[in-house]
Amino acid sequence: MAKLSVFSQFFLVLCCFVAINAMPNPQGPKGALVATAESGHFSYDDPNKWKEHNSLCAGEHQSPINIDTRKSKTAKFAPFNFHNYEKSLPENLENNGHTVQLTIDNLIKDLPTISGGGLEGPYEFAQMHFHWGEAEFGSEHKINRKQYAGEVHIVHWNKKYGNFVNATKHNDGLAVLGILIDLQDRDNIAFRHIEHFDGIKTASKKNEKLPYSVPLKDLLPSNTASFFRYEGSLTDARCNEDVIWTVFETPVHISHKQLEKFRQLSDDHGKPLSKNVRPTQHEHDRIVTYSGPEQKTSELPLVFPIYNPAAFAYYPFFPQNVPFMMVY
Ligand SMILES: *[C@@H]1O[C@H](CO)[C@@H](O)[C@H](O)[C@H]1NC(C)=O
Repeated sequence: MAKLSVFSQFFLVLCCFVAINAMPNPQGPKGALVATAESGHFSYDDPNKWKEHNSLCAGEHQSPINIDTRKSKTAKFAPFNFHNYEKSLPENLENNGHTVQLTIDNLIKDLPTISGGGLEGPYEFAQMHFHWGEAEFGSEHKINRKQYAGEVHIVHWNKKYGNFVNATKHNDGLAVLGILIDLQDRDNIAFRHIEHFDGIKTASKKNEKLPYSVPLKDLLPSNTASFFRYEGSLTDARCNEDVIWTVFETPVHISHKQLEKFRQLSDDHGKPLSKNVRPTQHEHDRIVTYSGPEQKTSELPLVFPIYNPAAFAYYPFFPQNVPFMMVY
């Protein structure tokens, strides 16, 4: 080994470089989680940078995803049971700097729960929050690359883990219902109470009691029997892979005017909270399951517009963020 050729030396250096990069992050996912998730400071200006502060965000079971209905497998799950979803319970709103979050007064004993729908449960309601965009594209999940105007997430935790924080340590710890929001001309009165933003224009820990409440049931889509199921993560910068996702195939509808109110809130730097959408993540080894009637309505021909051939050409190389939205 006295004299290595230039090529061997180069090869040696290359090997070391690869080995160093393959070493596990000494800080580990736990350390990163404490550093970012609990400080709660993150921005939607560049969600691709979250992984620089939190290695969990670079995981292989991240959310949201684009759901390709031609690749999903079909199953027949039992219908969902929505327990206490029809009850009017005292509700609070909070602007936490990233979203508008609705919670139910914690003095309530018998909180809404969900079970069935292929979930082992029950899962208890924790909170509900919203995602929206600067223009008409603000959903986090996409179906066949179609991005909707916004998305509601109803977050539940698995009661067998005792409390929310304990549940977040298990990959079946949370069950989130994702409801896509489409636009319509008239207001959706079920959402009217959620636009009580006067007291929460700026981000703070302050809860605003809603003057009246609407049962969670009224915020669900008309059809909850058709949905997509996959295992993923929280879509904020915590990135914990502890969520069993349900994305309903049928959207709910609100008006432009209603959606506009969300964009008038401010984030924790006092800047407009004009968007809070994480881009779709790679599905890696995951398979999405579809439960519902034979014909996926999302697969009906009308959903596919004329392809932009230029955009289509990129598809095999950039499976995420294909500029299909340009043609919708
Ligand atoms: C949460 O987990 C801790 C540690 O495992 C346990 O001691 C505690 O009892 C759990 N809390 C509940 C409410 O189950």
